[in-house]
Amino acid sequence: MSEAQTERHEFSAEVGRLLDLVVHSLYSEREIFLRELVANAADATDRRRFEALTNPALALPPDAKVRIVPDKAARTITVSDDGVGMDKAELVSNLGTIARSGTRAFGAEAAKAQKDKGSDEKVDLIGQFGVGFYSAFMVADSVEATSRRAGSNEAWTWASEGKGAFTLTPAERDQPGTTIVLHVKPDAEEFLEPLRLQTIVKKWADHITVPITIATDGEDKPANEGTALWRKSKSDVTEEQYKEFYRHLGNIFDDPWATLHWRAEGALEFSALLFIPGMKPFEAVEGPRESRVRLHVRRMFITDEAGLLPPWLRFVQGVVDTEDLPLNVSREMLQATPVLARIRKAVTGKVLGEIKGRAKDSEDFAKLWENFGAIMKEGVWEDSEHRKEVAGLMRFRSSTQEGWTGLDDYAGRMKPGQEAIYFLAGDDAEALAKSPQLEGFGARGVEVLLLTDPVDSFWPDRLHDWDGKPLRSVTAGASDLSKLEVTTQPEGEPADVSKLLPALQAALGDQVREVRATDRLTDSAVVLAAGGYGPDLQMQRLMRRHGKSGMGAAVLEVNARHPLIRSLAARADADGDVAEAAYTLLDLARVQDGDMPADPAGFARRVTAALAAAG
Ligand SMILES: Nc1ncnc2c1ncn2[C@@H]1O[C@H](COP(=O)(O)OP(=O)(O)OP(=O)(O)O)[C@@H](O)[C@H]1O
Ligand SMILES: [Mg+2]
Repeated sequence: MSEAQTERHEFSAEVGRLLDLVVHSLYSEREIFLRELVANAADATDRRRFEALTNPALALPPDAKVRIVPDKAARTITVSDDGVGMDKAELVSNLGTIARSGTRAFGAEAAKAQKDKGSDEKVDLIGQFGVGFYSAFMVADSVEATSRRAGSNEAWTWASEGKGAFTLTPAERDQPGTTIVLHVKPDAEEFLEPLRLQTIVKKWADHITVPITIATDGEDKPANEGTALWRKSKSDVTEEQYKEFYRHLGNIFDDPWATLHWRAEGALEFSALLFIPGMKPFEAVEGPRESRVRLHVRRMFITDEAGLLPPWLRFVQGVVDTEDLPLNVSREMLQATPVLARIRKAVTGKVLGEIKGRAKDSEDFAKLWENFGAIMKEGVWEDSEHRKEVAGLMRFRSSTQEGWTGLDDYAGRMKPGQEAIYFLAGDDAEALAKSPQLEGFGARGVEVLLLTDPVDSFWPDRLHDWDGKPLRSVTAGASDLSKLEVTTQPEGEPADVSKLLPALQAALGDQVREVRATDRLTDSAVVLAAGGYGPDLQMQRLMRRHGKSGMGAAVLEVNARHPLIRSLAARADADGDVAEAAYTLLDLARVQDGDMPADPAGFARRVTAALAAAG
């Protein structure tokens, strides 16, 4: 085909249909229309301020604002501003062309002009895509925009029903600026309520810097906070302002443990202001597992469900505000956009970096750990990317140390010949510290970490080892302590239990997997262990609490040096009956671990009988 034959055609689009598409597919919530109109008004105000830098005649009036007036009788909502306005040609090109953004064009020009001048005055505009305005048609069946360009005396009214045509009529306007009138659809009457409008502004446009008012009972009431603290530079924000914002965000009244305020420039542009609370907010425990850090796009609130931080950092509060996403990004788009994934990575890295830095000061770090350690540990369980880093931050109570200790410190204290990092999981550190489960470890000077959070039953499996040393629950299977030298030798020789063990086993039947002698005890007569390589006792306990059974029976271990076992061994050797004693031993072992006896009434009866016999 030769050049000459090539024909050129324009796409033809039915504008009305296209508008429909824009309006109904870009936004999931109708209330967004107000955010879009306010964003445009704020942009126009900023533009005028900027143009006044070179042309003082255009200066903004000192009381410049965005005024929202709902009128129930007329069924209209009016949004007016003191911004730069539009002349006739601009009304045609900006409001008459879908996807043409006058704001964006201006922003590019302004940035270039500033650069040429070597000025770093920034124009901070919101509009980018040239579609926001049309969201008005979600709630209005017709829209009028009356505008007067700053520096001109002429005003024009643009009007349309959003069906592919618009009209232009000469108009009057006292001052430069733009007035948008929405004729509200019958099914959108809710937006004629001043209170409803207030809620929308608070939610989506609270941090717009131009004052916004909403006419309520004939009075213009301020509707926005007006500061976007995170967009300021650090040196312009006082400690008090940070705190106030933190309290406002989280509805808590303490001081933050950490305040992170930074700005990312370059490939990815965003400002972030994040807080790590100084106390445990109620919600962090009971609330949803997702991070609620707020996502803003150019000051405008988008969502607090963007999952900007992983769930194990969900206690972090704050705002991330980016230039790199469109304002009208939908929830579905958010999930898919690589920009958000990159922001997440950067933000997570920053928070983790801060926490790691402060982990060096153990007293300081303990404050964070005591509030949120249980949540952070979830990262070891579920976040393969950060597993090692979070594991290094974990702090535990220990059978041999005061206060908190970590895995690195534990590893440094391991005994020669000690093969594993031992832990005991349960509900309460104090009870664990006294548990007979620890006796054999204590006798060998082997440290055991005491874990008391529900998640402690899960993460050790995923972490598997620390620095090549396996993590092992002292109640899972048999811990091999025989290779380790005993430092406090128990007194006396062990009794011969070769007849007692099978007798106990016979009495207990399938209530136990096995009855065996153990070197894990020094003072107690019996202790339970999980059988085989299955879950440890605490995991079994958790499963029972959640109505899951069928974990199989535990192993009953007996201390052959203990006087009670010694006398039972003698009774078994003489072919005496040890059945009643067997039940009691099993229940004793359970009670020691904080569990209920299998048969509480029977247990009480047997103990009473034994006491009576002894008395
Ligand atoms: N209140 C206003 N005052 C002055 N110009 C306005 C006003 N509202 C809209 N405009 C002009 O109309 C254009 C289109 O507005 P629209 O909201 O559709 O797009 P945008 O703001 O550029 O981008 P976005 O799609 O991100 O909102 C704007 O770029 C701006 O030039
Ligand atoms: Mg806009």
